[in-house]
Amino acid sequence: MKKVFVKSYGCQMNVYDAERMADMLATEGYSETKAMEEADLVILNTCHIREKAAEKVYSELGRVREMKQEHEAAGRDIRVVVAGCVAQAEGKEILRRAPAVDVVVGPQNYHNLPALLKKSRTDRIVDTEFPIEDKFDHLPAPSKAKTRSRGVSAFLTIQEGCDKFCTFCVVPYTRGAEVSRPVAKILDEALRLADAGVRELTLIGQNVNAYHGEGPDGSIWSLGRLLHRLAEVPGIARLRYTTSHPRDMDEELIAAHRDLPAVMPYLHLPVQSGSDRILDVMNRKHTGDEYRRLIERIRLAQPRLALSSDFIVGFPGETDAEFEETMRLVADVGFASSFSFKYSPRPGTPAADIDAQVPEAVKAERLARLQNLLEMQRQAFNHGTVGQTLDVLLEKPGRHPGQMAGKSPYLQAVQIETDRHAVGEIVTVRITQAGSNSLFGEWVGSGSQAAA
Ligand code: SAH
Ligand code: SF4
Ligand code: F3S
Repeated sequence: MKKVFVKSYGCQMNVYDAERMADMLATEGYSETKAMEEADLVILNTCHIREKAAEKVYSELGRVREMKQEHEAAGRDIRVVVAGCVAQAEGKEILRRAPAVDVVVGPQNYHNLPALLKKSRTDRIVDTEFPIEDKFDHLPAPSKAKTRSRGVSAFLTIQEGCDKFCTFCVVPYTRGAEVSRPVAKILDEALRLADAGVRELTLIGQNVNAYHGEGPDGSIWSLGRLLHRLAEVPGIARLRYTTSHPRDMDEELIAAHRDLPAVMPYLHLPVQSGSDRILDVMNRKHTGDEYRRLIERIRLAQPRLALSSDFIVGFPGETDAEFEETMRLVADVGFASSFSFKYSPRPGTPAADIDAQVPEAVKAERLARLQNLLEMQRQAFNHGTVGQTLDVLLEKPGRHPGQMAGKSPYLQAVQIETDRHAVGEIVTVRITQAGSNSLFGEWVGSGSQAAA
């Protein structure tokens, strides 16, 4: 049997796509391996979001080239595929810079992989045209055993692409225009996952709350309505969605946080900056206060809500005072966990052409200060759960015998002392201690199976 090794960089969309590629290649006779050296096919599923992410691929391709040469010297044929957002953004340039690469395939073209691999016996190929057909219609579902092996929490892509064009971001170029999958297809996939034992679904999309898919009745469904339907799928106890844009948090979605116990009280809602002027130049189309008021409304609907966000420091032209507004917004809102980045100019995006780029040292200093504050908030949030009872979805055996490891409603890793419980169960746990990266707790009862 031939072996495929897939390495994913970047966001959850890539993790999901990597699984779909592996599922399709399984029908072509490939089994998955976690060791690149034993692979006949190496796929690097790349990310273009920041310069560092994109450059990582080329250093990895250097290593792949050495390995390929060694294998070829020993008479073994190795194919190398670059997929994902760098593939879409750089296309042919990758073939020029990386001689080991046989196929470059964009995120909307994975269903063509078997054909591309055949062609690559005689030619080096680039396939980055946005196709008319939906790749998901051509990507086979995995076996039940395979789904089971991936665990009790699964990603499900419901939407792809982005029409927002934030001035710093490559996603609208690498993933194309916003497309929502029809409800019936999402539901089929949810039923299949639940049937294999999945308890928690994370609906994913670059702009997931802009979801507007065709319902079974021909009308257009919002994310709020879709959540209601998915909450009825037997076995599914937890629903999450990511990544959302503040502009697309509509009333129906906010109400779903109030009305559906399965919708976890944890929301990733990137704000990027606290400065109105910077938000405007970023083309985010909302102010800092509008974000604060939105959070108040969601907290009114779901008082147990915790938040996470993404931040960019050193966006072109950002002054000290504007950066302080970001610090103030963080202090005002309070986040349980966050990602923060130094602005990275991306080719082809409007912000990269702004003259007033912020010096690297200033970006580094701002990032350190912001991360310090965010880390303090994260620790405070984790310590705040000590003494509380939380539902924990058990995901795997714990670090030591007699322990199980799972996740709280807030995606905190929790270790509990128990040997009576099984993976996939939701149990109620009293949190006794907060470590730097996980919580510890004791079993107090069987969980409500849905609510936090
Ligand atoms: N769709 C999501 C974000 C996807 S990209 C949203 O609208 O929020 C993930 C995160 O990467 C972004 O939220 C942003 O914080 C960061 N990011 C995107 N482009 C960047 C750039 N050019 N430099 C630094 N960080 C960037
Ligand atoms: Fe990028 Fe903005 Fe779209 Fe998010 S909403 S993917 S940051 S363009
Ligand atoms: Fe990266 Fe593409 Fe995701 S650029 S963050 S892999 S959409």
